[in-house]
Amino acid sequence: MVNLQVGKPQPDLMPLEENYSLKRHNTFGVEAIARYFAPVRHVEELAEIAIGDLWKSMPVLVLGEGSNILFTRDVGGLVLKNEIKGIAVMRETADEVWLKVGGGENWHQFVMFCVGNHYAGVENLALIPGSVGASPVQNIGAYGVEVKEVIEEVGAWHLEQHDLMRFSNADCAFGYRDSVFKHAYRGKLMIVWVVFRLSKHPRFRTGYAALREELERMGVKELSLETISEAVIRIRSRKLPDPAKIGNAGSFFKNPQVSMAQYEALKQRYPTMPAYPGEHETMKIAAAWLIEQCGWKGYREGDAGVHQHQALVLVNYGKATGQQILSLANRIQQSVYERFGIMLEREVNVW
Ligand code: EPU
Repeated sequence: MVNLQVGKPQPDLMPLEENYSLKRHNTFGVEAIARYFAPVRHVEELAEIAIGDLWKSMPVLVLGEGSNILFTRDVGGLVLKNEIKGIAVMRETADEVWLKVGGGENWHQFVMFCVGNHYAGVENLALIPGSVGASPVQNIGAYGVEVKEVIEEVGAWHLEQHDLMRFSNADCAFGYRDSVFKHAYRGKLMIVWVVFRLSKHPRFRTGYAALREELERMGVKELSLETISEAVIRIRSRKLPDPAKIGNAGSFFKNPQVSMAQYEALKQRYPTMPAYPGEHETMKIAAAWLIEQCGWKGYREGDAGVHQHQALVLVNYGKATGQQILSLANRIQQSVYERFGIMLEREVNVW
């Protein structure tokens, strides 16, 4: 087991790059230049940016693995890339384990670490691109599980107040692809560690139809953390483009949640429209279906396009600019609104 101290102090100063390309640091693979760029490997390094007035007059952007951002312009300030590593066992009982994980750890590697150690709770979230520090921000979720179910505490550095804040699960105000980090604290924090509370007695979540079907196809007789994560990996690899090959940031829009009345009216007109119960007595409608109905699935214009197997995923086939992808997204939003009266909300952050 890896057992590192999260954010162990180092004497060397934070290295700073000037006029640095962010192309390799965003999974859309679009070009954008950062005026300044610094990888942050230890919490203590963040205190350094409190020194000097330079940063006070500039925007500061925190970046994880860049898998949920679309750059449409350069960053005329400082980009801080979270590279804080480490996985430490905080506490352990016969039934549960509490892991403190550095915000810069890769999410999928963390999931595989848990599966390998028989810690249950994140196996349905295998292969989601991105970092551990980004996972609470949008409350990542897939195949019937959301990360909020296993988050005990979040530690974040306040970039203006220059101190460490701790958020309990309740403080995070988690919702569907939502948290306090997207609202009151938007752009103000770097999440330096997350404490996960995982179980040693798995409760397998196979309610999601696609997951059950995949497990059947694999001929799985006995469920395990390995077989579930493997099934999720297979579904995702088949349906979603690999950002290393085709630029993308996963679902570009959220699935819209509409009132029961609006849902009933739509269902009358479109009986095959896929929908599931949402939050606060709403119905969640499959945005991919809405987009596909408007004829966008597989659409391509230059190097910007809509993925051929998942209409919710916008892609960069090579040289698309952030502006071109955003323009395509805006037109999709417009056409879905005109046809269904639903304004899709972006899941991806636009800079
Ligand atoms: N569908 C279409 N056309 C398509 C794709 C899907 O009509 O091109 C329909 C399917 O038939 C299905 C429904 O849409 O009935 C839902 O599709 P899917 O199961 O692929 O899930 P999704 O709602 O499109 C959400 C998450 C994904 C997550 C999957 C699996 C959001 C915004 N997206 O997608 O998360 O992996 O469920 O749980 O909630 C992400 O957030 O980046 C992401 C990939």
